[in-house]
Amino acid sequence: MRALDISVVGATGVVGTALIKLLEKSEIAVDRLRLFASSSGARQLKFRDQTYLVEALRDIRNIDDTKTDIAFFSAGGDVSAVWGPRFASQGALVIDNSNAFRMRPDVPLIVPQVNACSLTVRPPSGIVANPNCSTIQLVRALRPLIATFGVNQVLLTTYQAASGVGRRGINELEDGAEAWLKGSTRPAAESFPVSLAFNVIPQIGEISSEGVALEERKLVQESRKIFGMPRLQLTATCVRVPVKTCHSEAVYVEFDDHVRLEQVHELLANEPGVRLYADEIRDGYPTPRFLGGPAYVHVGRVRVNPENPRGLWMWVVADNVQVGAALNALLIAQLVIANNLMDET
Ligand SMILES: NC(=O)c1ccc[n+]([C@@H]2O[C@H](COP(=O)([O-])OP(=O)(O)OC[C@H]3O[C@@H](n4cnc5c(N)ncnc54)[C@H](OP(=O)(O)O)[C@@H]3O)[C@@H](O)[C@H]2O)c1
Repeated sequence: MRALDISVVGATGVVGTALIKLLEKSEIAVDRLRLFASSSGARQLKFRDQTYLVEALRDIRNIDDTKTDIAFFSAGGDVSAVWGPRFASQGALVIDNSNAFRMRPDVPLIVPQVNACSLTVRPPSGIVANPNCSTIQLVRALRPLIATFGVNQVLLTTYQAASGVGRRGINELEDGAEAWLKGSTRPAAESFPVSLAFNVIPQIGEISSEGVALEERKLVQESRKIFGMPRLQLTATCVRVPVKTCHSEAVYVEFDDHVRLEQVHELLANEPGVRLYADEIRDGYPTPRFLGGPAYVHVGRVRVNPENPRGLWMWVVADNVQVGAALNALLIAQLVIANNLMDET
């Protein structure tokens, strides 16, 4: 495989920084790397013993500057909507972390462990979308169970970390906690609807006229697209919690058939990238603050509903920045390379 030209847009953000670290450790050979952010500000980043200057995306004047083999976008939906197609039009395979293209029919929405089969040809748009962070960990835990037992419905509540809204979310949580401890009763809230420190907030994203928040709609639509099940019954309440990183989900699945706990354990234990905590006394259960193994989807508290042998509860925790964004994007890039989907014209 030849060494590739790679661009990272949003290189200084929470996801971009994590992605650059993963790319650095990967086996992907990089010939030329360009790093973009909102401004240049003389910022430098290290990558494989070389120092790179961060460039301002808006300073690109020449369309030739968007020519690259793979362009990772992690700079928000507005930036992706404008710049993603520009990079793609110059031959780049764009891997986009934002919400800009996920539901477009000409853009595959990919979780490599679940639907790699949807990325065997180069998409006509030149864009591949990375799902929302809460969707990725959910579909990765559900995949072996739905494939084995069929599914009637999925109900879940999420407990999502501050880093889900990027660096400003982490800063606001830390500042808010400090202010609260110093006696401020109403610390500032800009990244969240109300102050998150010592609080939980039952709203992530704008609430529709039907009362459903954007994050809840994304979970439904994206899960349906990834599984190729347009009528999948799934409903969620998404909650922001005062945790720095790692999203947790309490997931209830009602299958078509009765389930046996031993078989569920076997399926989850054998699922690549899933770490099962089968026995609470021996293994405990995953919690966001003490999660080891940021590349895994951690599943604990697995139990069949004593009132309904088709119902199963599980507690699913994963690093939203790694599993939910940067790692998934890198795995998509590896799939693109393995399937030879770069534009070679
Ligand atoms: N955080 C997560 O858990 C997560 C998970 C899944 C998907 N995502 C998605 O990933 C994207 C990035 O999220 P994040 O958490 O990394 O956010 P973040 O920490 O706020 O970082 C945003 C990045 O985008 C850059 N940027 C902002 N405006 C720009 C512009 N006009 N032109 C060029 N670059 C610009 C910023 O550069 P400056 O440093 O110059 O401001 C920074 O590098 C978002 O679309 C988000 O929805 C995030």
